[in-house]
This record gives sequence, C-alpha cells and structure tokens, in this order.
Amino acid sequence: MVYSCWKVCASSMIHRTSSAIAYPNIALIKYWGKRDEELILPYGDSLSMTLDIFPTTTTVSLDDDLADDQVILNGDYADASTLSRIRGFLGRVRQLAGCDTPALIKTDNAGPTGAGLASSASGMAALACAASDAYGLSVDRRGLSRLARRGSGSAARSIFGRFAIWYAPGEDDPDPDEASYAEPVEDVAVDLALVVGIVDDAKKNISSREAMAHTVATSPLFPGWIRAGQADIVAMRAALACGDLQKVGEIAEYNALGMHATMLAARPGIRYLSAASLGLLDCVAQLRHEGMCAYATIDAGPNVKVLCCFEDADRVAEALCEAVVGTRSVIARPGPEAHLVSHHGG
Ligand code: PMV
Repeated sequence: MVYSCWKVCASSMIHRTSSAIAYPNIALIKYWGKRDEELILPYGDSLSMTLDIFPTTTTVSLDDDLADDQVILNGDYADASTLSRIRGFLGRVRQLAGCDTPALIKTDNAGPTGAGLASSASGMAALACAASDAYGLSVDRRGLSRLARRGSGSAARSIFGRFAIWYAPGEDDPDPDEASYAEPVEDVAVDLALVVGIVDDAKKNISSREAMAHTVATSPLFPGWIRAGQADIVAMRAALACGDLQKVGEIAEYNALGMHATMLAARPGIRYLSAASLGLLDCVAQLRHEGMCAYATIDAGPNVKVLCCFEDADRVAEALCEAVVGTRSVIARPGPEAHLVSHHGG
C-alpha cells in the first residue's frame, strides 16, 4: 500500500524498542458520532486543547519469541477489550510496515484511565508514535494523526500540542488527501487554563464508542447537534483568534451541554453526568455570578473541566474542592505534542 505521508524504512532502520509520550486533549468543540465505525470518521469537526498533565508513556518492544502481542497497562495485564483494541491497531501498523513480529506493549497513564479524562486520546497517540517508530514506518505528523485516529478518534488531536482541529471530511483512508486528520490551530490569542475537577476516577460503565453509536442510532436530537457543532467550530476559531475568553468559554460550555443533551435524549438515554457533576456546574455558574470568567466542559464521564484564565486557576481549583465533598482538582495549561522519548535496536 502506498501512502504519500507514510513509508517503510529500510529494514536496517527498524527500531526494535521505541517509547513515546503523549498528553490528553479536552475538546472545546466535541466529537460525538461516527459516520464510519471501521475507519473512525466523524460526522463533525472538533477542536481541542492538549493538556500538560496526565501523560501516557508507552513502550513498544518487537519480540519474535512472542506468539501474540502482550499488553501491560498500568502494571497489570490489560483486560480482553483493551487487548483486542491494541492488537487490532498493531495489526494495522504491521500491515503498513510489512512485518509480522508481535510486540510487548507497556503503557502507563499518569492520570485516571477510562474516566472521561481523555486517557484513550493520550494512550492511542503515544501508541501510534511508539509503534510506528518500532516497526520502521516513516510517518509525518498528519500521517501520525490519521494513524492515531484509527485507535481512538480523539487521539488524532493528541498528536499535536496546544490547540488542534480534527476535520471531519474524508472518505477513503488510503488516500492522504482525502483522509480525515487533525492539524494545529495556531491562531490563539487567549492565555487559557483548564482546571480539572475530579469527582470520580473509576472507569466508566459504558464506553464512549458504544455510547456514541447508540446516540447516532437513536437520538432524535442528533442531526441538530451536528448542525450546531459546525457553527460552534467557526465561532470558536474566531473567539480564540481574537482572544475573547468569555466567548471561548460560552461556546465550549454550550457545546458540551448540547452533547450531553443529545445523548440524554437517546432511547434509552445515556447519562454520564452525576449529582457531583451538577454540583460543580452550579459552582462554575456561581463563580460567574461573582464576576469570574469561568466556563465548564464535560466529556464521557462525570468529571468537570473548567476553562478560565491562568491567574484565576487557583481560585477555581479551590472553589471546586469546596463545592462538592471529595473533589480533587488539578490545573492544566496547553501542553506539548506527542513525541518519542527513546528507541533502541535495529
Ligand atoms: O475518542 P473517543 O472514542 O474516546 O471519544 C471521545 C469523545 C469525547 O471525549 C466525549 C469528545 C471529544 O471530542 O474528545
């Protein structure tokens, strides 16, 4: 298969062990709904901020003695669904690289796993970086974004640091000009912080993949959600470019609540929001009432992230902890792109 932005290195260049690090991203304009489950092609564009906290570090070691891929996640053997997802992803890398060797994958999340804090974005972005290097694929950033997308849609954006937009169009993945990929958003004039209010770091009961498919299939609000998202993207880009924090926050909050409304309207409804999430939303509304520019966004889990300017971040973090007993808060800023940290062998 020929990819203009992927090529296989000469076999002497294959790195047998490669490690990479990638950071989670939180969407200001959300991706919720695939029009192609296999290729992971979204219905709408999405736009995110990559964080400087909770990275995933992943090491891929090719090993001819293994019968099949082994995955160690946070120090334990991965469960069956994680294992099959990672094996599927590596199968694709091997196909592109023309190499059958299985691999041992060690992956560690510094933050909570599967709790709506984007561990699949950082995880699949780190895996795409490490695996493509270990198997000797020479791939540019756009190619890496397309590859990461096949692991988890939102991972396409974690290849880039700071702010990224993932474009929905693209039908045929093998043609890079037609493919759906993310790229950096450079025109950002706001000094944003994102305060993560963690109310529950347990793994969610329903995966975003399953919840998304159910929403697309059954929610009568879905077409309206996609229409609104396209307008939100345009307004968000303009607000970021002119440094209008209030607009950025308003659009992000409306968009996130719209996503939750759409899934609540599915039949039966899907609810990631808990009483604690609502408590934190009230707290953010109260901060605004007191004159602070603070806005919330929530993903596929109960935890609430608050957008504000960096000078207000400590006050927001404190307010979240006081508002709901048991809340832990962590301050994030725009973070780095996914990158390799080491490679050995040949
Ligand atoms: O990439 P996934 O399948 O983990 O889906 C991510 C979905 C949201 O986090 C809710 C929204 C987004 O755009 O990141």
